[in-house]
Amino acid sequence: MDNLMSNPIGVFDSGVGGLTVTREIMRQLPGENIVYFGDTARVPYGSKSKKTVLKYSRQIVRFLQTKNVKAVVVACNTASALALDEIAEEIDIPIIGVVKPGAKMAVETTETGNVGVIGTASTVKSGIYNDYIRELDPHITVVSKACPLFVPLVEEGLIEDRVTDDIVSRYLQEMKEYNVDALVLGCTHYPLIRNAIKRFMGEQVHLVNPAFETAKVLKELLTDKEMLNMSGRRPSYEYYVSDGVESFMSFADSVLPFHVKDTEVIDIESY
Ligand code: DGL
Repeated sequence: MDNLMSNPIGVFDSGVGGLTVTREIMRQLPGENIVYFGDTARVPYGSKSKKTVLKYSRQIVRFLQTKNVKAVVVACNTASALALDEIAEEIDIPIIGVVKPGAKMAVETTETGNVGVIGTASTVKSGIYNDYIRELDPHITVVSKACPLFVPLVEEGLIEDRVTDDIVSRYLQEMKEYNVDALVLGCTHYPLIRNAIKRFMGEQVHLVNPAFETAKVLKELLTDKEMLNMSGRRPSYEYYVSDGVESFMSFADSVLPFHVKDTEVIDIESY
Protein backbone atom coordinates (compact mmCIF):
# COMPACT_ATOMS: atom_id res chain seq x y z
CA MET A 1 0.00 0.00 0.00
CA ASP A 2 2.80 2.41 0.91
CA ASN A 3 4.25 1.74 -2.50
CA LEU A 4 0.98 2.66 -4.19
CA MET A 5 0.65 5.83 -2.12
CA SER A 6 4.08 7.06 -3.15
CA ASN A 7 3.41 6.28 -6.81
CA PRO A 8 3.16 9.44 -8.92
CA ILE A 9 0.15 11.24 -10.30
CA GLY A 10 0.13 11.33 -14.10
CA VAL A 11 -0.83 14.65 -15.65
CA PHE A 12 -1.13 15.34 -19.36
CA ASP A 13 -2.01 17.97 -21.91
CA SER A 14 -1.45 18.59 -25.60
CA GLY A 15 1.45 20.89 -24.70
CA VAL A 16 2.44 23.39 -22.04
CA GLY A 17 -1.09 24.37 -20.96
CA GLY A 18 -1.40 21.51 -18.47
CA LEU A 19 1.43 23.03 -16.49
CA THR A 20 -1.09 25.57 -15.17
CA VAL A 21 -2.95 22.64 -13.60
CA THR A 22 0.28 20.94 -12.49
CA ARG A 23 1.33 24.14 -10.71
CA GLU A 24 -1.91 24.07 -8.74
CA ILE A 25 -1.56 20.35 -7.90
CA MET A 26 1.96 21.04 -6.62
CA ARG A 27 0.57 23.85 -4.46
CA GLN A 28 -2.35 21.92 -2.99
CA LEU A 29 -0.67 18.51 -2.82
CA PRO A 30 2.96 19.31 -2.03
CA GLY A 31 3.73 15.71 -0.99
CA GLU A 32 2.79 14.09 -4.30
CA ASN A 33 5.17 12.84 -6.98
CA ILE A 34 4.13 13.90 -10.49
CA VAL A 35 4.82 12.66 -14.01
CA TYR A 36 3.86 15.25 -16.64
CA PHE A 37 3.44 14.55 -20.33
CA GLY A 38 3.01 17.34 -22.91
CA ASP A 39 2.14 16.18 -26.43
CA THR A 40 4.15 18.98 -28.01
CA ALA A 41 4.58 17.14 -31.33
CA ARG A 42 0.84 16.88 -31.91
CA VAL A 43 -0.48 20.11 -30.36
CA PRO A 44 -3.08 21.53 -30.96
CA TYR A 45 -5.80 19.04 -30.02
CA GLY A 46 -8.49 21.67 -30.18
CA SER A 47 -9.03 21.45 -33.92
CA LYS A 48 -8.91 17.63 -34.10
CA SER A 49 -11.69 15.06 -34.17
CA LYS A 50 -12.89 13.02 -31.21
CA LYS A 51 -11.39 9.90 -32.80
CA THR A 52 -7.94 11.45 -32.98
CA VAL A 53 -8.01 13.02 -29.51
CA LEU A 54 -9.19 9.71 -28.06
CA LYS A 55 -6.38 7.83 -29.80
CA TYR A 56 -3.77 10.33 -28.57
CA SER A 57 -5.15 10.31 -25.03
CA ARG A 58 -5.16 6.50 -24.88
CA GLN A 59 -1.52 6.42 -25.97
CA ILE A 60 -0.59 8.95 -23.30
CA VAL A 61 -2.45 7.10 -20.56
CA ARG A 62 -0.69 3.87 -21.60
CA PHE A 63 2.64 5.70 -21.37
CA LEU A 64 1.77 7.14 -17.95
CA GLN A 65 0.82 3.68 -16.74
CA THR A 66 4.34 2.47 -17.55
CA LYS A 67 5.40 5.03 -14.92
CA ASN A 68 3.07 3.31 -12.40
CA VAL A 69 0.88 6.34 -11.88
CA LYS A 70 -1.75 5.88 -9.17
CA ALA A 71 -4.16 8.40 -10.74
CA VAL A 72 -4.43 10.46 -13.93
CA VAL A 73 -5.37 14.10 -14.33
CA VAL A 74 -6.43 15.07 -17.84
CA ALA A 75 -5.11 18.64 -17.70
CA CYS A 76 -6.63 19.44 -21.07
CA ASN A 77 -10.20 20.55 -21.61
CA THR A 78 -10.30 19.14 -25.12
CA ALA A 79 -9.24 15.66 -24.00
CA SER A 80 -11.51 15.94 -20.95
CA ALA A 81 -14.40 16.71 -23.30
CA LEU A 82 -13.64 14.15 -25.99
CA ALA A 83 -11.82 11.24 -24.34
CA LEU A 84 -12.20 11.15 -20.57
CA ASP A 85 -15.44 9.14 -20.29
CA GLU A 86 -14.21 6.34 -22.60
CA ILE A 87 -10.81 6.09 -20.94
CA ALA A 88 -12.34 6.04 -17.45
CA GLU A 89 -14.16 2.85 -18.51
CA GLU A 90 -10.95 1.25 -19.73
CA ILE A 91 -8.55 1.72 -16.83
CA ASP A 92 -8.63 0.66 -13.21
CA ILE A 93 -7.05 3.73 -11.63
CA PRO A 94 -8.88 6.99 -10.88
CA ILE A 95 -8.92 9.57 -13.67
CA ILE A 96 -10.31 13.09 -13.50
CA GLY A 97 -10.56 15.95 -15.97
CA VAL A 98 -10.81 19.72 -15.72
CA VAL A 99 -14.26 20.39 -17.18
CA LYS A 100 -16.50 19.22 -14.34
CA PRO A 101 -14.51 21.13 -11.69
CA GLY A 102 -14.49 24.20 -13.97
CA ALA A 103 -18.26 24.05 -14.45
CA LYS A 104 -18.78 23.82 -10.68
CA MET A 105 -16.58 26.86 -10.11
CA ALA A 106 -18.47 28.84 -12.73
CA VAL A 107 -21.79 28.13 -11.05
CA GLU A 108 -20.37 29.17 -7.68
CA THR A 109 -18.85 32.34 -9.13
CA THR A 110 -21.65 33.91 -11.17
CA GLU A 111 -24.08 36.29 -9.50
CA THR A 112 -26.00 37.42 -12.58
CA GLY A 113 -26.39 33.94 -14.06
CA ASN A 114 -24.63 34.96 -17.28
CA VAL A 115 -21.61 32.73 -17.75
CA GLY A 116 -19.15 32.84 -20.63
CA VAL A 117 -17.04 29.87 -21.67
CA ILE A 118 -14.05 30.12 -23.95
CA GLY A 119 -12.16 27.10 -25.22
CA THR A 120 -10.87 25.27 -28.24
CA ALA A 121 -13.17 24.62 -31.21
CA SER A 122 -13.62 20.96 -30.16
CA THR A 123 -14.41 21.77 -26.52
CA VAL A 124 -16.95 24.42 -27.49
CA LYS A 125 -18.49 22.20 -30.17
CA SER A 126 -18.91 19.37 -27.64
CA GLY A 127 -21.19 21.60 -25.53
CA ILE A 128 -19.84 19.91 -22.41
CA TYR A 129 -19.49 23.05 -20.26
CA ASN A 130 -22.99 24.07 -21.15
CA ASP A 131 -24.29 20.61 -20.16
CA TYR A 132 -22.47 20.45 -16.82
CA ILE A 133 -23.26 24.05 -15.85
CA ARG A 134 -26.94 23.72 -16.67
CA GLU A 135 -27.10 20.38 -14.89
CA LEU A 136 -25.96 22.20 -11.75
CA ASP A 137 -28.20 25.23 -12.33
CA PRO A 138 -30.66 25.25 -15.26
CA HIS A 139 -31.30 28.98 -14.79
CA ILE A 140 -27.82 29.95 -15.91
CA THR A 141 -27.31 31.23 -19.44
CA VAL A 142 -24.08 30.02 -21.02
CA VAL A 143 -22.43 31.80 -23.94
CA SER A 144 -19.54 29.94 -25.53
CA LYS A 145 -16.87 31.03 -27.95
CA ALA A 146 -14.06 29.08 -29.58
CA CYS A 147 -10.74 30.95 -29.57
CA PRO A 148 -8.51 28.78 -31.77
CA LEU A 149 -5.66 31.28 -32.06
CA PHE A 150 -5.05 31.51 -28.31
CA VAL A 151 -3.20 28.17 -28.10
CA PRO A 152 -0.60 28.96 -30.81
CA LEU A 153 -0.09 32.43 -29.28
CA VAL A 154 0.68 30.81 -25.92
CA GLU A 155 2.83 28.06 -27.41
CA GLU A 156 4.79 30.80 -29.23
CA GLY A 157 5.30 32.59 -25.93
CA LEU A 158 3.40 35.73 -27.03
CA ILE A 159 2.03 36.22 -23.53
CA GLU A 160 2.37 39.98 -23.26
CA ASP A 161 2.18 41.14 -26.85
CA ARG A 162 0.08 43.54 -28.89
CA VAL A 163 -0.93 40.81 -31.28
CA THR A 164 -2.42 38.83 -28.37
CA ASP A 165 -4.40 41.87 -27.21
CA ASP A 166 -5.72 42.32 -30.75
CA ILE A 167 -6.86 38.70 -31.03
CA VAL A 168 -8.37 38.79 -27.53
CA SER A 169 -10.50 41.81 -28.43
CA ARG A 170 -11.58 40.25 -31.70
CA TYR A 171 -12.71 36.98 -30.06
CA LEU A 172 -14.20 38.42 -26.88
CA GLN A 173 -16.09 41.46 -28.16
CA GLU A 174 -19.25 39.36 -28.42
CA MET A 175 -18.76 38.01 -24.89
CA LYS A 176 -18.64 41.57 -23.57
CA GLU A 177 -21.95 42.35 -25.23
CA TYR A 178 -23.61 39.46 -23.37
CA ASN A 179 -22.61 41.00 -20.03
CA VAL A 180 -21.19 37.83 -18.55
CA ASP A 181 -19.90 38.20 -14.99
CA ALA A 182 -17.96 34.90 -14.95
CA LEU A 183 -15.77 33.75 -17.81
CA VAL A 184 -14.47 30.18 -17.74
CA LEU A 185 -10.97 29.78 -19.13
CA GLY A 186 -11.98 26.47 -20.69
CA CYS A 187 -8.57 25.60 -22.07
CA THR A 188 -5.57 25.04 -19.86
CA HIS A 189 -3.44 27.30 -22.05
CA TYR A 190 -5.64 30.34 -21.43
CA PRO A 191 -4.64 31.16 -17.82
CA LEU A 192 -1.26 32.06 -19.29
CA ILE A 193 -2.85 35.00 -21.15
CA ARG A 194 -5.24 35.90 -18.35
CA ASN A 195 -3.81 39.43 -18.07
CA ALA A 196 -4.71 40.20 -21.67
CA ILE A 197 -8.17 38.68 -21.20
CA LYS A 198 -8.70 40.61 -17.96
CA ARG A 199 -7.57 43.87 -19.56
CA PHE A 200 -10.17 43.48 -22.25
CA MET A 201 -13.08 42.08 -20.21
CA GLY A 202 -12.58 44.45 -17.25
CA GLU A 203 -12.26 43.96 -13.50
CA GLN A 204 -15.97 43.22 -13.00
CA VAL A 205 -15.71 39.91 -14.89
CA HIS A 206 -14.37 37.01 -12.81
CA LEU A 207 -12.03 34.75 -14.73
CA VAL A 208 -12.66 31.15 -13.71
CA ASN A 209 -9.58 28.95 -13.88
CA PRO A 210 -10.63 25.29 -13.44
CA ALA A 211 -7.12 24.38 -12.22
CA PHE A 212 -7.80 25.31 -8.60
CA GLU A 213 -10.96 23.21 -8.32
CA THR A 214 -9.34 20.32 -10.23
CA ALA A 215 -6.50 20.11 -7.71
CA LYS A 216 -9.08 20.28 -4.92
CA VAL A 217 -11.10 17.42 -6.43
CA LEU A 218 -7.90 15.40 -6.80
CA LYS A 219 -7.02 16.01 -3.16
CA GLU A 220 -10.48 14.89 -2.02
CA LEU A 221 -10.28 11.80 -4.20
CA LEU A 222 -6.87 10.74 -2.92
CA THR A 223 -7.97 11.43 0.66
CA ASP A 224 -11.17 9.35 0.28
CA LYS A 225 -9.29 6.46 -1.27
CA GLU A 226 -6.51 6.73 1.32
CA MET A 227 -4.01 7.21 -1.49
CA LEU A 228 -2.29 10.40 -0.32
CA ASN A 229 1.47 10.18 -0.25
CA MET A 230 2.41 10.27 3.42
CA SER A 231 6.07 9.33 2.97
CA GLY A 232 7.22 12.81 4.01
CA ARG A 233 9.95 12.67 1.34
CA ARG A 234 10.60 15.54 -1.05
CA PRO A 235 8.40 14.99 -4.12
CA SER A 236 9.92 14.08 -7.46
CA TYR A 237 8.68 15.66 -10.67
CA GLU A 238 9.33 14.15 -14.09
CA TYR A 239 8.57 15.77 -17.43
CA TYR A 240 8.12 14.10 -20.80
CA VAL A 241 7.20 15.56 -24.18
CA SER A 242 6.80 14.24 -27.71
CA ASP A 243 9.02 16.97 -29.25
CA GLY A 244 10.72 20.32 -28.68
CA VAL A 245 12.42 19.78 -25.31
CA GLU A 246 14.19 23.15 -25.29
CA SER A 247 11.13 25.30 -25.76
CA PHE A 248 9.13 23.15 -23.35
CA MET A 249 11.77 23.56 -20.66
CA SER A 250 12.06 27.30 -21.00
CA PHE A 251 8.29 27.55 -20.95
CA ALA A 252 8.02 25.31 -17.90
CA ASP A 253 10.51 27.57 -16.15
CA SER A 254 8.22 30.53 -16.69
CA VAL A 255 5.13 28.72 -15.39
CA LEU A 256 6.50 26.68 -12.49
CA PRO A 257 8.05 28.28 -9.42
CA PHE A 258 11.40 26.46 -9.87
CA HIS A 259 13.85 25.48 -12.57
CA VAL A 260 12.94 22.40 -14.63
CA LYS A 261 16.19 20.49 -15.08
CA ASP A 262 15.38 17.50 -17.25
CA THR A 263 12.74 16.70 -19.80
CA GLU A 264 12.76 13.56 -21.91
CA VAL A 265 11.39 13.03 -25.41
CA ILE A 266 9.10 10.03 -25.78
CA ASP A 267 8.00 8.32 -28.99
CA ILE A 268 4.37 8.50 -27.99
CA GLU A 269 3.16 6.86 -31.21
CA SER A 270 4.71 3.61 -30.00
CA TYR A 271 2.37 3.34 -27.01
N1 DGL B 1 -4.76 22.93 -23.47
C1 DGL B 1 -5.75 22.16 -24.10
C2 DGL B 1 -7.15 22.42 -23.63
O1 DGL B 1 -7.32 22.66 -22.50
C3 DGL B 1 -5.66 21.95 -25.57
C4 DGL B 1 -5.23 23.03 -26.43
C5 DGL B 1 -5.02 22.47 -27.82
O2 DGL B 1 -4.16 21.59 -27.94
O3 DGL B 1 -5.72 22.87 -28.74
O4 DGL B 1 -8.10 22.36 -24.33
